[in-house]
Amino acid sequence: MTIQACPKDNQELEALLATPSEQLIQAMAKLDGDIIILGIAGKIGPTVGQMAVKATKLAGKKRRIFGVSRFSGKGTQTQLEEAGISTIPCDLLDRKSVEKLPKPPNVLFLAGRKFGTEGAASETWAMNVLVPAIVAETFSDSRIVSASTGCVYPLVAASTGGCTEDVPPEPIGEYSQSCLGRERMFDYWCQRNNSKLLHYRLNYAIDLRYGVLHDIVQKVLHGQPVDLTVGHFNVIWQGDAADVMLRSLEFCDNPPRILNVTGPEIVSTEETACQFAKLFGKEPNFAGADADSCYLSNAAKMVKIFGKPRVAVKQLIQWQADWLLKGGKSYGKPTHFEVNNGKF
Ligand SMILES: NC(=O)c1ccc[n+]([C@@H]2O[C@H](COP(=O)([O-])OP(=O)(O)OC[C@H]3O[C@@H](n4cnc5c(N)ncnc54)[C@H](OP(=O)(O)O)[C@@H]3O)[C@@H](O)[C@H]2O)c1
Repeated sequence: MTIQACPKDNQELEALLATPSEQLIQAMAKLDGDIIILGIAGKIGPTVGQMAVKATKLAGKKRRIFGVSRFSGKGTQTQLEEAGISTIPCDLLDRKSVEKLPKPPNVLFLAGRKFGTEGAASETWAMNVLVPAIVAETFSDSRIVSASTGCVYPLVAASTGGCTEDVPPEPIGEYSQSCLGRERMFDYWCQRNNSKLLHYRLNYAIDLRYGVLHDIVQKVLHGQPVDLTVGHFNVIWQGDAADVMLRSLEFCDNPPRILNVTGPEIVSTEETACQFAKLFGKEPNFAGADADSCYLSNAAKMVKIFGKPRVAVKQLIQWQADWLLKGGKSYGKPTHFEVNNGKF
């Protein structure tokens, strides 16, 4: 594999993340109607929204891309408007406001809450269970791709190859339980409305400004110990995750489909830290011992339907090191991927 150069700045990174595949452009040419992205203002939403605009344009189609969030962070709404997204401020917990939103045939659901669950669990349950119930009931005529998480699965050893979609959920802790609650609310309303949906179970997006690789590289560069409790993980380039999310619209079904969205590689925490250390000419420090059970998803179904991600882990590791060394932006939002007791 030829390693491509790391994006040189934030603008180039955003452009690379939002580059659609040929297959997505073809899918956007066939897809009917507008798209609404609920919870667009987070880490993944802007990539998905900008990619949807680009792919639609390259497909020669006219389609509106709506982006809904409270827009609590500064600047995101303006950035999205400039990219051609029609933004609508809305608190999705407010049913009356949700009822007033446009109802296009395509919905991407990205809103959710994870960090802060310990000590304020009821807010997490409201966001992850009540909001999906409101959305699924209100968008009864739309197909929905709903972002879920690999955290609904049990912890498994790397030797298993990761959980396939057939493994029954066994969520640990209230965050993961609320994520299963989100899936169940969507299932319930899909059954009642006879509508189509896909549960998009994501494991760790990488966009260089945050993510598991970002967390590990920071520790290695600053000589801090890398926690080995979670010895293995899966990751996917956020550009590939967004591409699969948009292409998943045509795979929504009733009963809802489940799709693991992650890279096909099972990555070792220790080996990754050693690779970063080698690139920096440093000795890595470690803490904890591999508990031999982690959140790992098997990506075989995704690869079969959509093909391999365009960016492999080897390339991501190189980019992540280069990004940090050139002083690239960081969101300062750790993933806490080393947590395996469900307490977020
Ligand atoms: N990033 C990953 O690697 C990863 C991995 C597994 C699963 N996921 C799941 O994928 C989804 C998207 O991930 P993400 O990383 O982009 O999450 P995120 O950064 O937390 O973004 C979610 C966005 O939803 C919006 N939101 C929250 N509450 C809202 C409300 N009441 N009304 C309207 N909007 C609201 C927020 O923007 P405002 O504050 O502006 O409203 C927030 O930025 C989440 O469900 C997440 O759990 C992500």
